[in-house]
Amino acid sequence: MTVQDTTRTDDGRVRYEPQDGVLLEVDDLFVEFHTPDGVATAINGVSFDLRQGESLAILGESGSGKSVTAQAIMGILDMPPAVIPHGHIRYCGQDLLTMPDEQRRKTRGPEISMIFQDALSSLNPVFPVGWQIAEMFRVHRGMNKSDALQQAIRLMERVQIPAARERVKAYPHQFSGGMRQRIMIAMAIALDPAVLIADEPTTALDVTVQAQIMNLLQELQEERQMGLILITHDLGVVADVADRITVMYAGRLVEKAEVDELYASPAHPYTRGLLESIPRLDQKGQTLAAIGGLPPNLMRIPSGCAFNPRCRMARDICRTDCPELREVTPGRFSACHFAEEVVDA
Ligand SMILES: Nc1ncnc2c1ncn2[C@@H]1O[C@H](COP(=O)(O)OP(=O)(O)OP(=O)(O)O)[C@@H](O)[C@H]1O
Ligand code: SF4
Ligand SMILES: [Mg+2]
Repeated sequence: MTVQDTTRTDDGRVRYEPQDGVLLEVDDLFVEFHTPDGVATAINGVSFDLRQGESLAILGESGSGKSVTAQAIMGILDMPPAVIPHGHIRYCGQDLLTMPDEQRRKTRGPEISMIFQDALSSLNPVFPVGWQIAEMFRVHRGMNKSDALQQAIRLMERVQIPAARERVKAYPHQFSGGMRQRIMIAMAIALDPAVLIADEPTTALDVTVQAQIMNLLQELQEERQMGLILITHDLGVVADVADRITVMYAGRLVEKAEVDELYASPAHPYTRGLLESIPRLDQKGQTLAAIGGLPPNLMRIPSGCAFNPRCRMARDICRTDCPELREVTPGRFSACHFAEEVVDA
């Protein structure tokens, strides 16, 4: 680590500095799972970056590799069975994959933090929520019990938990799903991370609460100028919050674009299919055109374009040649041989 890559905070901690505004760079990343049945390539050459103050959505069906990407960034994949045969994940210019374990562990929480997909069940049922938040400050910041609890109350207030001072001693089961998710958000931002990854942060919640949680995440992201990665299978939920979107299919990025552009005219048939399956308020009663067929088995990814067995536009070349992710118009990338036709369709 060079001196100019880091600064020190008031309490003496080392803080990494973004390189030209870039917090995170995932560069040609591969993740495989070596299982008794064979090798599954879950991440297959993925590259993207995240800037300070930017919200990036990762969109894709179940099994497309969204959570594995997040786990690779956090450094929490079980290795084995996971193997990273190739690629870099740079945080403020430092490659997390070659960083000594101890140094990397220290990035988890204060630098890069995550709200997990099963967050609602990951609070410990036998401890009061305030205690669980306070524990973050005790362990990482060395605060005494009373200061840590005051800090926990302030954070509970910030994530809009009503009567936080009284409820700091309540147990997880005494909170609704939406309130528990607010507590998980509080824990994820407690150490003021530069990057926050939210893996399906609203899936288990009803529609009104989903919107409130997304608003809260957006407010916190703007206030703290965090880089936010929003993982979702539902573009409708993140469209108002995300600046850019990357779309994953079978472990590859198939489209990358500004959210408005992608929403208005996708450049990949898979993205088009996903958009057509979102219920739209302005088209009430319209039948949803879900994408036919199933995602491939990652041990036997089809040759050519992995999407070809499900694609209405597939032609001969799609079954033999794998399309590269390429810039179709400035700032918009697609991995389809016929991206220009898709945009114009
Ligand atoms: N520990 C593991 N061992 C073997 N395969 C795994 C393991 N963890 C993940 N996978 C495989 O990697 C692929 C990608 O999984 P991942 O959890 O990233 O999907 P996802 O896009 O997050 O889906 P979902 O929307 O269902 O959460 C899946 O096929 C999954 O079965
Ligand atoms: S490359 Fe071919 S199969 Fe793949 S998305 Fe484009 S048209 Fe469909
Ligand atoms: Mg997942």
